[in-house]
Amino acid sequence: MITVLENIDLRPYNTMRVGAKAAMWIEFDSLEDAPAAIETAKMATPSGKYMIMGGGSNILFCNDYSGAIVHPAVIGWEAKALGNGKMEITAGAGVEFDNLIASTCRSGLWGLENLSLIPGSVGGAAVQNAGAYGVETGDYISEIRAWDIEAEKFVVIKKESLDYGYRTSLFKKAENAGKYIVLEVSFILSAESCPKLDYGPLKDLESDSVKITPDLVRQKIVDIRNSKLPKVSDTGSAGSFFKNPVLEKGSWAEFISVMTANGIEPDSVPHFVLPDGSVKIPAAWLIDKCGWKGKTLGNAAVWSHQPLIIVNATGKASGSDIVALEKAIVEDVRSRFGITLVPEVVHV
Ligand code: EPU
Repeated sequence: MITVLENIDLRPYNTMRVGAKAAMWIEFDSLEDAPAAIETAKMATPSGKYMIMGGGSNILFCNDYSGAIVHPAVIGWEAKALGNGKMEITAGAGVEFDNLIASTCRSGLWGLENLSLIPGSVGGAAVQNAGAYGVETGDYISEIRAWDIEAEKFVVIKKESLDYGYRTSLFKKAENAGKYIVLEVSFILSAESCPKLDYGPLKDLESDSVKITPDLVRQKIVDIRNSKLPKVSDTGSAGSFFKNPVLEKGSWAEFISVMTANGIEPDSVPHFVLPDGSVKIPAAWLIDKCGWKGKTLGNAAVWSHQPLIIVNATGKASGSDIVALEKAIVEDVRSRFGITLVPEVVHV
């Protein structure tokens, strides 16, 4: 079924809880309706402009949207045993990712537990390669079913072609903008114990004498997230606002000399050397060092327990309020450290 609504308030549909209007909202709940939903979107407004939006958890509406928003609401999932304790779970793009994770953990399936409580839809997580605590969504995806809008056909894209990387995928590549609409995502999970406990606080689980289960790891992740991150039901946010910057080898050496000149002991800079020798620095640390943690600017604020997160502090922030704070942070980090932070949140 396809539902079409006109001139809707987007506040309930974006986790930042920013008020903005969309000229048209087009929702469909079965795979087969995807082509007609896209055709409806193309005709819906004079400009023919449209965009696809899942759970609205990684988006900032800077203005009203004059086109149509297409929302895949394909829900439900099914499981297929593959043998050797492996299970293939195929979920609709509109499934709330955390509902799926709660269920797979309850069933004793390993894979998605570290991604617990990530807000948004299965489709959104698969497009952005949402990640947390040492795991990325793409790690467990085997294939994705999508409607190829340009070629006008349903396609199945196998893992090898999905081009997963840090918060990126085939779907995020500039040349593929507007090409696909993701409809169904298949994950391969395992009944055999394979916890990923490399992230600091998770290591505690290993020393406890209890048997580690997916549900136990999930509970730990839920506790960690609740202590650091705002609950989207209480405070509008879009998770990490910026990506963690990655410096090439040469830029890292330059950065270290800037640190020394700033009186910061280079050894105190948290960083992770990646396999190709480039270095990832936590944006949270850079923002923290610039004194932004817990600071408010108008209706927007930097979360006091995790400065990588910008929140709608009063519940009344507009897109421009959020952007004003974003720009102030970017400018400050650039002038102090020579690093330009890039937002992870998509601006519309
Ligand atoms: N830090 C500070 N001050 C703080 C908090 C953190 O200096 O107040 C520094 C510390 O050095 C800390 C480091 O930042 O070790 C990293 O912090 P954290 O482990 O909380 O993770 P992150 O790099 O800030 C990333 C993801 C999160 C994900 C966590 C956990 C990105 C952009 N963000 O954050 O993802 O939950 O790791 O794996 O990669 C999201 O994308 O929405 C998201 C929340």
